[in-house]
Amino acid sequence: MDYLVVYTSNTGNTEKVALKIFETLPGKSKDIIKVEDYKGEEADLYFVGFWNDRGTCGSGIMDFLSSLHGKRVALFGTCGMTGSDEYYKEVENRVSVFLSDDNEYLGGFLCGGRLMPQVLEKYKQMQAINDTPQIRSMIGAYEQGMLHPDKQDFEAAKRFVEKILSKHQKKEN
Ligand SMILES: Cc1cc2nc3c(=O)[nH]c(=O)nc-3n(C[C@H](O)[C@H](O)[C@H](O)COP(=O)(O)O)c2cc1C
Repeated sequence: MDYLVVYTSNTGNTEKVALKIFETLPGKSKDIIKVEDYKGEEADLYFVGFWNDRGTCGSGIMDFLSSLHGKRVALFGTCGMTGSDEYYKEVENRVSVFLSDDNEYLGGFLCGGRLMPQVLEKYKQMQAINDTPQIRSMIGAYEQGMLHPDKQDFEAAKRFVEKILSKHQKKEN
């Protein structure tokens, strides 16, 4: 097939971005699957999606990326931390190292994703004990994240797919 979207998602944020990426891909020769259900399907171009787990991806995506050889691959992901391109680049770099050098890495896209409500509860408990500027900023970041992925993130995901497709097509010609 032409395109395969393989992703993992715990609370649905990455899945929403994965669906937008899948919808943007042209034609019918495409599929979307969770990494847990991957059974060796082959494609010309892979979009691999992860959620930021302590600064990198989880082991399912690590293993999947490590298993790819001679493929064209783009990455996408969601993070609790929103809006820092520098941080997104760091995370992307940490995840892309799991791809071996015999693949062609075409680029990555990251955006914010809302955190689980339990995280806010934990922050509030911490704040009740000691109300520091740091904990206030963590609560602020949580509130920012609540809105993501949003319309702008989906539009950015769409532009990302278009950019990757144009790189892919240039390489074909
Ligand atoms: C165990 C765990 C670790 C996380 N670590 C980070 C992190 O280091 N940095 C960050 O920005 N977000 C972190 N997050 C937030 C998630 O990456 C974020 O909520 C993501 O959008 C979840 O995607 P999902 O809904 O597809 O599961 C963490 C979440 C969990 C549950």
